[in-house]
Amino acid sequence: MGVVLLLSNMKIRHYLAIFSISITLLLAACGPDDPIAEGNTKAPKPADSTAQHNALTSDSASLQNLLRQYDPPGRDVWQKPEVVIGKMGDLSNKTVADIGAGSGFFSRRLAQQAKHVIAVELDPRFIHFMDSIKRVELKPEYQSRFETRLGLPNDPKLKPNEADIVLVVNTYIYIQNRIAYLKNLLNVMPQGGKIIIVDFKRKRMPIKYPRPEVRLELYEVENELDAAGFTNIESDDCALDYQYIVMAEK
Ligand SMILES: C[S@@+](CC[C@H](N)C(=O)[O-])C[C@H]1O[C@@H](n2cnc3c(N)ncnc32)[C@H](O)[C@@H]1O
Repeated sequence: MGVVLLLSNMKIRHYLAIFSISITLLLAACGPDDPIAEGNTKAPKPADSTAQHNALTSDSASLQNLLRQYDPPGRDVWQKPEVVIGKMGDLSNKTVADIGAGSGFFSRRLAQQAKHVIAVELDPRFIHFMDSIKRVELKPEYQSRFETRLGLPNDPKLKPNEADIVLVVNTYIYIQNRIAYLKNLLNVMPQGGKIIIVDFKRKRMPIKYPRPEVRLELYEVENELDAAGFTNIESDDCALDYQYIVMAEK
């Protein structure tokens, strides 16, 4: 367990180092000398660069905390990504949209099987993080299949018929107006398109995140899919120890 924890912490530090270098390059590219940098109407005072550095450092720190929460040590063991991805069938000719992709835990794996993956995220820090680590973790042929996209709270920014399968892992409860969001997805999904929602069961379990009050009952997810207009709603609450998997079609 100690070794897994150490390796996991080393991995997060490794990714964060790469991420920090990317952010530094990004800041350099949009720095004070860049005429198109937003709000760059005057030369920065020394105090501005200190504030910028402090903001970046605290940003990285909170990103590190989020990464620890999203991808705790040993997540692969209970998350069983191969079981979740296996539910999607043959992906060689399919585009998958991973809504709320976070660190890209699923998108990175999907990019090695699907024709194309669109990792939709609200938080630009995770967009930069995924753009950085895909270059480290994935072979060039898989990198080109992995697209990150900034979404809005009420809009995944998917184009009509763009995604054959929509995956929502550990994110559904954070969507503010869920039924409206599902209807929005339904509008852009092709006929026969699939949605797969994976989220935490409301029961005692040895992992502490997310807290039980930040979880939905399985029947609530099923009811909301139904209310939004999805059909063939099927659930599997046995395959994963801590989470249920709900599948539905347009
Ligand atoms: C708990 S993380 C899960 C990350 C990833 N799916 C995983 O399983 O590792 C939830 C993520 O969803 C993102 N998120 C929340 N609401 C969203 C929305 N409406 N559209 C896109 N991303 C969203 C958050 O920024 C956060 O990164």
